[in-house]
Amino acid sequence: MSFSVIVLAAGQGTRMRSARAKVLHELGGKPMLHHVLRTAANLSPAQTIVVCGHQGAELQTNCKEFTVDWVWQEQQLGTGHAVQCAQPVLANTDRILVLYGDVPLIKTSTLQQLLYATPPDALGILTTEMSNPTGLGRILRDKQGRVTAIVEEKDATNAQRDIKEINSGIYILPAKHLGTWLSKLQANNQQQELYLTDIIALAVSSGVPILAQHVANYHEVQGVNSPQQLAQLERVYQLQLADELMQQGVKLFDPARLDIRGTLKAGQDVSIDINAVFEGEVELGDNVVIGPNVVIRNSIIAANAVVYASSVIDGAIIGEHCQIGPFARVRSGSQFAPHSKIGNFVEIKNSTLDQYSKINHLSYIGDSEIGKRVNIGAGVITCNYDGAMKHKTIIKDDVFVGSNCELIAPVTIGEGATLGAGTTLTKDAPARTLTLSKKILTSIVNWPRPTKPDSAKQKEEV
Ligand code: UD1
Ligand code: CA
Repeated sequence: MSFSVIVLAAGQGTRMRSARAKVLHELGGKPMLHHVLRTAANLSPAQTIVVCGHQGAELQTNCKEFTVDWVWQEQQLGTGHAVQCAQPVLANTDRILVLYGDVPLIKTSTLQQLLYATPPDALGILTTEMSNPTGLGRILRDKQGRVTAIVEEKDATNAQRDIKEINSGIYILPAKHLGTWLSKLQANNQQQELYLTDIIALAVSSGVPILAQHVANYHEVQGVNSPQQLAQLERVYQLQLADELMQQGVKLFDPARLDIRGTLKAGQDVSIDINAVFEGEVELGDNVVIGPNVVIRNSIIAANAVVYASSVIDGAIIGEHCQIGPFARVRSGSQFAPHSKIGNFVEIKNSTLDQYSKINHLSYIGDSEIGKRVNIGAGVITCNYDGAMKHKTIIKDDVFVGSNCELIAPVTIGEGATLGAGTTLTKDAPARTLTLSKKILTSIVNWPRPTKPDSAKQKEEV
């Protein structure tokens, strides 16, 4: 049976108190609407329509990667009205699945089950129990337990408000009845809106059976209306991702202290310490060890590499057996060959490091090509920027750069060269040669050290 999906996303989301459209607020690093559209795409519907209104143009720009039809709901006159707006562009399918742009955690498998379990001419609805159902539509049932209607909180009697079974807002509707039902909706309710929920009672009166499918984990159908609810679902989502990783064998020191804002692929026997943040697309090879408080964005860390505490890696490729940090910052365009090493307080940008090379302490390396077995001493700086242009530093194999050197780019250090400590390298250093800036070391005998006046000394003693 063919079906279309309609995603409702026209609402303003006033309670988010944000200038940004609600459904563009991110969960796990992706807009809520992306989660819903990805799930919809997983179901391979004949068509997906998104109903937009508030900041519709931003929604469209932000969802270019999805193949969907956009319809406008200029005025938000209710969920029923939103579906009416989609009617003119609806393809000719047997059924229509209604999803919400602000219900991001709905699972593909749950929807597949709903599609499968709902008979062709029936109306299927996802419901769940909530201990605090405030604000949500309640499911009304008759004595036989059959669903008869949905009543919104604002229109409900006190007795109805005690009902814990709520409407998720997700339905599968038979297309042949939809037009008639939508045309019968009336705004005679507290909110003076056209409620999509009223079609349940209409279906019952037209003899269409209702299948209410229960969702065990209510978070799956939880809508986001406020920053608090968004934060709550973020935690739920992160725990799900953590659980998936552990099922694959990843060792997490604490699943509650992991954040994946994008996708993380991990090999075998990977271990991740607390407070690691992964953004964009990150891949970790077998046996990779990630220390605490590490941030990794759009990077590949190959097998057996270790990233020590509090390092930040962004847009880099780290080779096998490399060691990074603690407190290292690897910036975009950096590529390290196997067995190379970056130590504490080293910043490296747009540079390549060949096998077995080391930059162990306190350096800035930018726009550089570094060969094999190179040792860069503490405090070495590449002066890659002359105020207008960036220039390259090329360091050949087996070079030893002494501590505290300044390499004024563009500059090349020949194979096997040694730079003396504190050298300011303004021209190329020849291969297999010691190069050092001439500095005259002077010792002054009987040099009087400055002293403090007595009054200052007394103050110190107090
Ligand atoms: C709706 C349901 C309620 C259900 C709850 C679940 C109705 C009348 N009520 O209530 O039974 O328990 O969802 O979360 O349907 N939207 C539009 N255009 C509109 C109005 C809403 O596109 O004119 C979109 C919103 O952007 C949102 C979704 O529809 O994505 C739900 O709207 P919202 O106003 O949040 O409905 P609720 O009051 O939560
Ligand atoms: Ca809502």
